Amino acid sequence: MKIMIDEIRRVLQAGQVDGATIHEIQELVVDSLPVMVNRLAARTYEPGRYLLYKDSDFGFVVMMLVWAPGQVTPIHAHGTWGVEAVIKNHVRVTSYDCDTNVAREIGSVVLPVGAVAYVLPPDADVHKVEHFGSEQAITVHVYGKELLENLVFVPGQGFKGMPCSVTELPSDLDWFAGFGGVLREMPIA
Ligand SMILES: [Fe+2]
Repeated sequence: MKIMIDEIRRVLQAGQVDGATIHEIQELVVDSLPVMVNRLAARTYEPGRYLLYKDSDFGFVVMMLVWAPGQVTPIHAHGTWGVEAVIKNHVRVTSYDCDTNVAREIGSVVLPVGAVAYVLPPDADVHKVEHFGSEQAITVHVYGKELLENLVFVPGQGFKGMPCSVTELPSDLDWFAGFGGVLREMPIA
């Protein structure tokens, strides 16, 4: 994962994330998937949103989301680019086209372990994620910025900012703390 973070920093140093570079970041996450599956999928966690890494120079974050069976998000947007990888079980992602009043479904896909999807505003940003299995699912997300709130679609009102919670990292994620603590302070190479 250190390689993934170093390489994402390299991509971001070249400029804004666009239609070409989001695929580059997607490929970097694909490359790191086996390691993340190995290290994160071995046990269960409390459902929640775990901040694994925040880049102090470029502002992007890596988060682990643990989904309880049946958990579903509202229709929402993040207002920044994002890449999402499925680490354990599967989730269904449904995309929408919205105006102030109505959200129209434009596609829905089940993402199994190993799938890596992305969002990139303004054209590909509005979505809903649901976990429909009987055991918890785990996804890892790289977002272009720390998400203090999500933009939740409210029919008739458009998008409303809703605060996001962050769950405390379990102490047994030592493998992450081993380099995460260093990377949090790592200067631009
Ligand atoms: Fe999302």
